[in-house]
Amino acid sequence: MSLSTHQGTGVPHSDADPFALDVLADPLAMHGELRDAGPVVYLDRYDVHAMARYEQVHASLRDWQRFESSSGVGFPNFRHEKPWWTPSILLEADPPRHDAPYRVLKDVLSPRSLRRLRDRWSADGHQIVDELLTGASGGTVDLDAVPSLAEAFPLRVFPDEVGIPREGRENLLPYGDHQFNALGPPGEIRDRHAARAEELLAWVMAQTAREVLTDDGFGAMVWAAADRGEILPEHAPMLVRALLSAGLDTTISGIAAILYAFATHPDQWRRLREDPALIRVAFDEAVRWESPVQTFFRVATSDVRIEGALVPEGHKILMFLGSANRDPRRWSTPEHPDPDAFDITREPSGHVGFGMGVHQCVGQHVARLEAESLITALLPRVERLELVATPRRHLNNTLRMWESLPIRLHLA
Ligand code: HEM
Repeated sequence: MSLSTHQGTGVPHSDADPFALDVLADPLAMHGELRDAGPVVYLDRYDVHAMARYEQVHASLRDWQRFESSSGVGFPNFRHEKPWWTPSILLEADPPRHDAPYRVLKDVLSPRSLRRLRDRWSADGHQIVDELLTGASGGTVDLDAVPSLAEAFPLRVFPDEVGIPREGRENLLPYGDHQFNALGPPGEIRDRHAARAEELLAWVMAQTAREVLTDDGFGAMVWAAADRGEILPEHAPMLVRALLSAGLDTTISGIAAILYAFATHPDQWRRLREDPALIRVAFDEAVRWESPVQTFFRVATSDVRIEGALVPEGHKILMFLGSANRDPRRWSTPEHPDPDAFDITREPSGHVGFGMGVHQCVGQHVARLEAESLITALLPRVERLELVATPRRHLNNTLRMWESLPIRLHLA
């Protein structure tokens, strides 16, 4: 880390590499260094600016006029590099183009629309937990919480609810992994599924056709909005694609995060068992604490000055959501001094784990309902979760994920 400034712009510069394997595995120390360096830091290695403090990340996410998404929210800058995929009309678009598609998904995924799923998803949560715990002897069950819980629940409910056929669903996780890796710079991780990228995208696009989808799921609701003239017909497949791109890996990461949090903070699990209504806050606290989506880029639409530091027009800026969510400048309070602590009595609202502003996650109520359905099924049956071996990270350029969480459930 150097504190001299980048080309006289007043911006400190740094040789930190947020996409190095060891940093992806444990980015917390780098986050602290970047936050301490200043409100904006220039990353020499990638020729991009970065924001790691809560105040600037929060403000910039809300300021789409000066920090646009339509030049790409990943490393590639669409001003200079044409993407090989058709850019998303949500994530990679700005108002006004972005607004009608956003309204449609917001409606399809609203709490009111999800009410009809509550009982069904709750039953699915109980069934998964029953299957895992039935026949347990000795009062404990050992399992890998990633495949058995964090992946099992979203994979059971989400593709069914979008309404895609069963065949080929094994493509969903490699597709999602690749989409989020493709937002990073060239390198080993970005290239992991590169050979299959076009095949995976073609498979996903084939699932978005009206005749392939069931007639009562999220996908059909998107097509119905096109029939009502709320979006262009050619935008319907793009919105179904957005659900399949953004809806699975993110939630898997969030559920794995809360399970890991409870396995390593048994007092917090006890607290939740005493007051199950805290589950909603607990999941948001897990999203703040882990930040399943660690980073997104923006591009400056003009020369922007931030506390005297200049970010030139057209430059990429890397927003560290994960760092903002643990910035002591925002999260350290007299009652909760340590932002690195997972604490379900904290008030986590205002975190940027679901983004902020016009792009704020349209699927957040889906993620919350999924987590709630599963964790609520575990609560009465499990007295304590214990980590019984070293957990392993799954490295991704954008998402913070677990590959394996070896956990012992102590039954109630
Ligand atoms: C946008 C995180 C679950 C669909 C976002 C953004 C974040 C995020 C940070 C903002 C992107 C930006 O500012 O550029 C998460 C997390 C999740 C989650 C942490 C789970 C814990 C879901 C689910 C769905 C979904 C379940 C679909 C059902 C979307 C879509 C966008 C989005 C379509 C784009 C919105 C736009 O750009 O206008 N999400 N998400 N997400 N999310 Fe989520």
